[in-house]
Amino acid sequence: MSSSLDELAVEVLRTNDRGGYTVPTARLYPYQWNWDSAFIALGLATYDRKRAWQEIQFLFEGQWENGMVPSIIFRRNDPDYFPGPETWQCNDCKVLSTGISQPPVAASVARSLVESGDQFDREFAEKLFDAFYGWHKWYHEERKPDNCPIVATVHPWETGRDNCPDWELGLNNMTVDPELEAYTRMDTVHADANERPSKEQYDKYLTIVKFGRDHNWDQKTLTNEGPFLMADPCIHFILLRADRDLLWLAEQFGKSNYIDEIKGWIDEGVKGSEYLWNPKIKAYCARDVKTGEFSDGFSNASALSFYAGVGSESQMADTIRNMQRVQSKVKFMMPSWDPDAEDFEPQRYWCGPVWPQMNYMISIGLKEHGFDRMADNIRNDYAALIEQSGFFECFNSVTGEGCIGKQFSWTAALWLAWISPRKNAIAA
Ligand code: GLC
Repeated sequence: MSSSLDELAVEVLRTNDRGGYTVPTARLYPYQWNWDSAFIALGLATYDRKRAWQEIQFLFEGQWENGMVPSIIFRRNDPDYFPGPETWQCNDCKVLSTGISQPPVAASVARSLVESGDQFDREFAEKLFDAFYGWHKWYHEERKPDNCPIVATVHPWETGRDNCPDWELGLNNMTVDPELEAYTRMDTVHADANERPSKEQYDKYLTIVKFGRDHNWDQKTLTNEGPFLMADPCIHFILLRADRDLLWLAEQFGKSNYIDEIKGWIDEGVKGSEYLWNPKIKAYCARDVKTGEFSDGFSNASALSFYAGVGSESQMADTIRNMQRVQSKVKFMMPSWDPDAEDFEPQRYWCGPVWPQMNYMISIGLKEHGFDRMADNIRNDYAALIEQSGFFECFNSVTGEGCIGKQFSWTAALWLAWISPRKNAIAA
C-alpha cells in the first residue's frame, strides 16, 4: 500500500512543480504559498534535497525589504485566482505578492533538513539564516501591537486558518468598507461553495486588503490602526517554535551576535503565551486584541502549545483533556474547530476538517512532551485519511471524505516526510 502511495505522492509534487516552486494544487491555488512551500520542502527532501532548498529559496525571493515574507508570491498573473496581484497592488516588492504574511515555519523546516542532512544542507541553511532572522524580526516588530504582549495578526488569511470561527469576533467588530469595489470570486468556481467561506466573510477579508492598499502597505499602520486585530495561537506558537529553531541554527553557525536577541524573543513568547490562556475552557484560544474577548472554541491551533514548548503541567493536562473531549466527538483527529461549538461543520474548510500540516506539528509537539498515545492517534488518523481518500487539501473529520483541493502538495509531501518509510531521509 504505502509504496504505491509513495509513487502517487511523488507524482503529485511533480505535477504541481512550476519550475523551482510548487503550487498547492492546480487551478484553485495557482501560485507559491508561504507555509505550503515549507512543508513541501520536507517532502521534496525525501528524494531531492537540492530541489527542497530551491523551494525555500524561491519563497524568500519574495521577501520584502522590511523582512516580511508574503503569504503568496505571484510570479505570473493567473486569471484562475482571485484576489490576484491587481487587487493587492503591492508594487514596491521585488516579486509581486500579497501584503500580509503566513505562519513562519521555514526556520523549523531548515533545522529538520540540517539535522538530517550533511554539509550541503548546512551551507544552504547558513546562506538563508539572515533571511529567516529578518522575517522573525519583522513579526516581532511590525506585527506586535502597542497594547498586546505577543504578536498578533491583521487578517484571517495571514493565520493560514482562513475562515475558522475564531475570527468571527474580530470580523463582527468590523464593517464592510462601503467603497469596496465589486468583485468576482474564483474559489467557488473551483470548489463546492458549501466547503468555502461565506460572501459576508469574503467582503470583510477584502475590506482589510483595501485598508492595506489605501495605506501603501505600511505594516505598522495595518497592525495598529487596521480594521482587524487578533492574537492567534497558530502564528504565536509556530513563531515561538521557529525562534527556538532559529536559535539552534545561530548556535550551529556561530552567529553569536544574534543569540541574545533571539533568546529575548523566546522569553517574551513563553511569558506572553498566558495572554492566550482562556480560563473558561481551560485552553489557549484566539483573542481579539481590540476588545480583549476570547474565542471560546478549542481549535487545532490550541493544540500547538506542545509544539511551542509552552504550558505548566496543569495547562498541559487541561489541553489534553480538551483533546480527549474533541476526540470523543469525531472519527478523525484533529478537527480544525471544536465539535461542541454550534458552528462546527466537519466539511467546511477551517470549521471542522482535519488539516495535514496541523496534525504533523501537533503530533511532533505531543511526542516531545511524552504524550505518545495522543501523538500516535493524530499521526495514524492522518495516514488512515490518505489511505481512505487520497491526497486532499483537508478531510471531513466525521466521515473521512476528502475536501476541497485534490492532488494537494502538502498532503503528499507530509505523507513522504512523516508516514512512508522514506521519512527516514528527514527524521534523523
Ligand atoms: C488556504 C489555506 C491556507 C493555505 C492555502 C494554500 O487558503 O487556508 O492555509 O496556505 O489555502 O494551500
